[in-house]
Amino acid sequence: MKKIIELKNITKSFDGEQPVLDNIDLDIYSNEFLTLLGPSGCGKTPLLRLIGGFETPDSGDIIFLGDRINDVPPYKRNINTVFQKYALFPHLNVFDNVAFPLREKKVPKEEIEEKVHEMLALVALKGFEKRSVTRLSGGQQQRVAIARALISHPQVLLLDEPLGALDLKLRKDMQVELKKIQKQTGITFIFVTHDQEEALSMSDTVVVMSEGKIHQIGTPVDIYNEPENAFVADFIGESNILDGVMLEDYKVRFSGQTFQCLDKEFMKNEPVDVVVRPEDVDIVPVEKGQLTGVVTSVTFMGVHYEIIVDVNGFKWMIQTTDFVDVDERIGIELEPDAIHIMKKSEYSNLYGDYSSFSNELDELSELEEEDEDE
Ligand SMILES: Nc1ncnc2c1ncn2[C@@H]1O[C@H](COP(=O)(O)OP(=O)(O)OP(=O)(O)O)[C@@H](O)[C@H]1O
Ligand SMILES: [Mg+2]
Repeated sequence: MKKIIELKNITKSFDGEQPVLDNIDLDIYSNEFLTLLGPSGCGKTPLLRLIGGFETPDSGDIIFLGDRINDVPPYKRNINTVFQKYALFPHLNVFDNVAFPLREKKVPKEEIEEKVHEMLALVALKGFEKRSVTRLSGGQQQRVAIARALISHPQVLLLDEPLGALDLKLRKDMQVELKKIQKQTGITFIFVTHDQEEALSMSDTVVVMSEGKIHQIGTPVDIYNEPENAFVADFIGESNILDGVMLEDYKVRFSGQTFQCLDKEFMKNEPVDVVVRPEDVDIVPVEKGQLTGVVTSVTFMGVHYEIIVDVNGFKWMIQTTDFVDVDERIGIELEPDAIHIMKKSEYSNLYGDYSSFSNELDELSELEEEDEDE
């Protein structure tokens, strides 16, 4: 795989404040669908703007196909951007919107015709040429914006939360559509979202960020199954995160019990964070349980139940298709591959206990009731 963009030690702050990007190192490969994922304010948009050339880093280098491009203006980079608000020209029809970049470059008329038709076919808008863009749905407008960004054949396309304004159904359709377009064109996509499901389902590579730093770079499966620390485990899906001690290779102790696991190469008796996904917990009869606990809440979610179980004061979230009742005592069993070991970090003990979970829900519904009373 060929490296197309290298970010080396990038730091950026605004107005002498705390850095919004702190020592960012990232390699991006050609043909890759890479997603920057993180909570609001973590620095995704500033990072994208640096790659696009709309900002310059305070320190560090941006390398494009081997050349340093820190000071190259956006229009001289072979990189295009699709923004969250599609910024189409309202007075132009679909054809003219898509043709715009080529007209600017004085491309011959016949060639423009051919390319616009090719692009509209790619985004499934054949036959919409003469339509006013103001009469299109949100999803159609977004496809016009993508066609316009792709028509000058950039090597890299930057997409900043391009599906944020769409409703859920349309958003799902566009996810599939975008992925297809990326595969067909072979253009490197750098996609920004704060939606973890969207990131996992679309990307070749996911970059998890918070507070201006990169926490983990990996395939969706790696990020989900082998989170680097408690922040990543908590941000990507639901997680029970427990305090543990790695007794020796393949043996970890937590919640007063010793469990077999698949992890090794920790120090003897090293304190660790143990993450167990809610769907990996097996419910068994009490006498067979490695742990036992009392069910404190049961929520029907459609395909499964989400239950909260109090095990010696620590509240686990478990997803199960078995029905259990509130106040029932149950046994819990964990297969070795259900247990993932993480190094201790500054995020240890911040996440992973669902004690406040049912309380929060109660408080929320109380608040709503109060609102209704007013
Ligand atoms: N041009 C700018 N001038 C001053 N501060 C900026 C500028 N751009 C970004 N910031 C600051 O950088 C931080 C991170 O940026 P931003 O909130 O856009 O990140 P983000 O991850 O894209 O978030 P969101 O998901 O909400 O879009 C914020 O504190 C923001 O105020
Ligand atoms: Mg943003």
